[in-house]
Amino acid sequence: MSNVWRLGILTSGGDCAGLNAAIRAVVYRAIRHYGWTVYGIKDGSLGLMNRPLQYQELSLELFNGNMLRMGGTMLGTTNKGDPFAFPMPDGSLKDRSADFVEGYHMLGLHALIVIGGDGSLKILDRLCRQGNVPMVGIPKTIDNDVHQTEFAIGFATAVNVVVDALDRLQPTAASHHRAMVLEVMGRDAGHIALNAGIAGGADIILIPEIPYSLSGIAAKIEDVRREGRSHVLIVVAEGCRTEDGKPITVLCDQGQRRYGGIGQYLAERVAEVAGLETRVTVLGHVQRGGQPSMRDRLLASAFGVHAVDLVANGRFSRMVAWQDRGVVDVPIAKVVGGSRSVDPTGAVVHAARGLGIYVGD
Ligand code: F6P
Repeated sequence: MSNVWRLGILTSGGDCAGLNAAIRAVVYRAIRHYGWTVYGIKDGSLGLMNRPLQYQELSLELFNGNMLRMGGTMLGTTNKGDPFAFPMPDGSLKDRSADFVEGYHMLGLHALIVIGGDGSLKILDRLCRQGNVPMVGIPKTIDNDVHQTEFAIGFATAVNVVVDALDRLQPTAASHHRAMVLEVMGRDAGHIALNAGIAGGADIILIPEIPYSLSGIAAKIEDVRREGRSHVLIVVAEGCRTEDGKPITVLCDQGQRRYGGIGQYLAERVAEVAGLETRVTVLGHVQRGGQPSMRDRLLASAFGVHAVDLVANGRFSRMVAWQDRGVVDVPIAKVVGGSRSVDPTGAVVHAARGLGIYVGD
């Protein structure tokens, strides 16, 4: 057994379903198997940067109820406040990475487990290298775009939410002979749209990785009509661009822009080119909440156990990953260099095309 006995854990970046299940798995393995003490850091890296430090000891009693089933993260999280370029009240950006490292040592931690997406893992890996903080990563994101892992925590639940929405949209689309456009999250990756679109019986799935044309969409709608159906289900990933390549974004906090609006843009174009009444649904953060699916609970549990074992074996700067039906671990340096987008020539796109779904040209 390793001599590590004070383990820190934090969640960073956008929340998703399955984070509490992963925290629970880490706590169970660390306490039940290794006899360590576990500290939950609040609100991502902020908990170690703020003074007083913000943390809580995670005891087994906290997890003997419904934590496995709960959405969100009991620790809180943030997808802002990069410690290397921290937004100050006067509008300037300050490097506060030293505060994070100091906070880690103030708490007397021996290692840190970070549950995050590609952006968070990149920042935390840099922070931990700079401060000689032994760190292990666990991938989570509904976008499923973390390099080196086939699945990240949160993706399966988000896909289920989208499939459920399509199940609800189909009857109303059929009743009114409409085209229903469903805009889903995913940032620059189309995994949610593609997987849920197939499972939810969409006719048209548009993803950032494959260019589309309005004429292609119109032709597909014509085919559907010829087959005797008067309604159409269209799933569009938020990161899709206009036909001529412009991203559609909305202004959010602190003047930042985020994706949003491609569904409305498309609905207007579809109405023009296909002469069909259209309605738009933007699912938004509904995809991030709710109870984790069986798959996410399992993935989170397996990842949590493996991450603690990596710490016990002194194998740091690594991320746990799902590959070929099992949990493995990979160097974080290999993860942060790339991202995992939909393979336009892969099996899932092939299946979609095989079903006659229009997924672009
Ligand atoms: O990365 C997860 C994600 O939900 C994306 O799919 C989405 O574009 C983004 O986060 C939304 O971020 P926020 O919670 O800041 O609106």
